[in-house]
Amino acid sequence: MVMASQSASNIELSLIAPTYNEIENIVPLVERVHEVLSQYRYELVIVDDNSPDGTADLARTLSEKYPLKVIVRTEERGLASAVVRGFNEASGRVLGVIDADLQHPPEAIPDLLKAIDAGADVVIASRYIPGGGVEGWSIKRKIISQGAKLIANLLLSSARGIRDPLSGFFLFRKEVIDGVALAPTGYKIILEVLAKGHPTQVTEVPYMFRDRERGESNLTFKEELNYLKHLGRLIWYEGLLKRFIKFCVVGASGTFVYMGLLALLTEVAGLFYILSAVLGYEISILNNYTWNELWTFRDRRTISGGSVLTRAIKFNVVSLFGLGIHAAVLAFFTEVVGLFYILSAVIAIIGAMTWNFLANLKWTWRPTSDDPSNVVS
Ligand code: GDD
Ligand code: MN
Repeated sequence: MVMASQSASNIELSLIAPTYNEIENIVPLVERVHEVLSQYRYELVIVDDNSPDGTADLARTLSEKYPLKVIVRTEERGLASAVVRGFNEASGRVLGVIDADLQHPPEAIPDLLKAIDAGADVVIASRYIPGGGVEGWSIKRKIISQGAKLIANLLLSSARGIRDPLSGFFLFRKEVIDGVALAPTGYKIILEVLAKGHPTQVTEVPYMFRDRERGESNLTFKEELNYLKHLGRLIWYEGLLKRFIKFCVVGASGTFVYMGLLALLTEVAGLFYILSAVLGYEISILNNYTWNELWTFRDRRTISGGSVLTRAIKFNVVSLFGLGIHAAVLAFFTEVVGLFYILSAVIAIIGAMTWNFLANLKWTWRPTSDDPSNVVS
C-alpha cells in the first residue's frame, strides 16, 4: 500500500487529502502537489472511503511515480475521521490537510511551509485575511460561513483572534498533537487541533478558495448541524460551560446564605431588616467569592493577576454592578415592557448572572500568563 520513494524517517511533510468520489481530481491533485513539493521530502496521504467511482484504484496507479500513500477505509465514512486516520498513518514531522478537489490550491503550500520554518507551529491557509478570499460563493453561503466563524471566535478560546478558524487547509508540527486524542467528529478538524492540541504560535497565510471545477461537494446541511455539536463539545472540553455551571451553583449557594442571614439577623439578633439585608448580602458575596476562588476558578489562582484581596474587591465591585443590572432589568421589563414582575425577575437573573460570570472571567480572574488566548498571532 505504501509506495513512498523515500524512507519514512526523514519525511518533512505528510499532506493528508481525504477523498470521496474525486476520480476526476486525483490526477491533477497529485501532479500539482508534486510540482510544488518536489524539492521537499514529502508524502501525500490519500484517505479514501472506498469511493464507488474508483478514486482509490486510480490513486494507487500513481503511487509508482509519486510519493503517495493510499489508504482505503471500508468500515468507516466521513471527512473528519478520514483525516484523523491520515494523521495516524503519517510519518512527517509536519502534518497538513488539503481538500482533494483542488478548491485548496496546492501552490499555496510553500508559503505555509515558510511560516512553519519561521517558527509557527500551526499555519492556517486563510480566506479571511488580506490577499485571501472565496470564489463564486452565493451570499447565503457567505453568511453561513461568517456566522459559523463568529460563534467559533466568540465561544472557543483557542479560536479567538483567528480569522479563518474553519479552514480545511492547514499545516502543523506533529508535536502539537502529541499525546492528544483527536475526536473524529465534526468536520472542522482544525478546531480539534487548536482546542485539544498544544499550539504556541498560530499564523495565517492568505489563499483563494477556488470554485470546484470537477466532481461534486459531499458536505450537506447535516454537517452544519454536526459543526454546532462539535463546537458544543469543544466548548465543554475547554471548560467554559463547566465553569459557568459551577458559577451558577455557587450563585445559588449565595442565595441561601443571603436568605438565611436575613431571617437569622432579623428574627434572632433583632436587627432592623434592611440592615440584615445589607449585611446578609455582603456576606453572601463573600461566600460566593470564596467558593469561586476555591472551586470555579481554582485553576486560575496562581495565574490570575493581583492578590486574594484584590480579587475579593474586584468580585465585590462586579457583584454590586450585577445588583444594579438586576434592578434595572427588572424595572425595565416590568414598567416599560409590561411583563409580569416574576417573569422580569427571571430575565434579570439571567442578565445579571451572565454579566457577573463574564466580568469575573475577564477581569477578576483574568490570567496574566499562560493564557491560551495570547497564543494566537
Ligand atoms: N474520505 C472522505 N470521506 N473524504 C471526504 C468525505 C468522506 O466522507 N466527504 C468529503 N470528503 C473529501 C472530499 O472528497 C474533498 O476532498 C474534501 O473532503 C472536502 O469535501 P467537499 O465536499 O469538497 O467539501 P466543501 O467544498 O463543501 O467544504 C470544504 O470547504 C470548507 C470551507 O468552507 C471542506 O474542505 C472543509 O474542510 C472546509 O472547511
Ligand atoms: Mn470542496
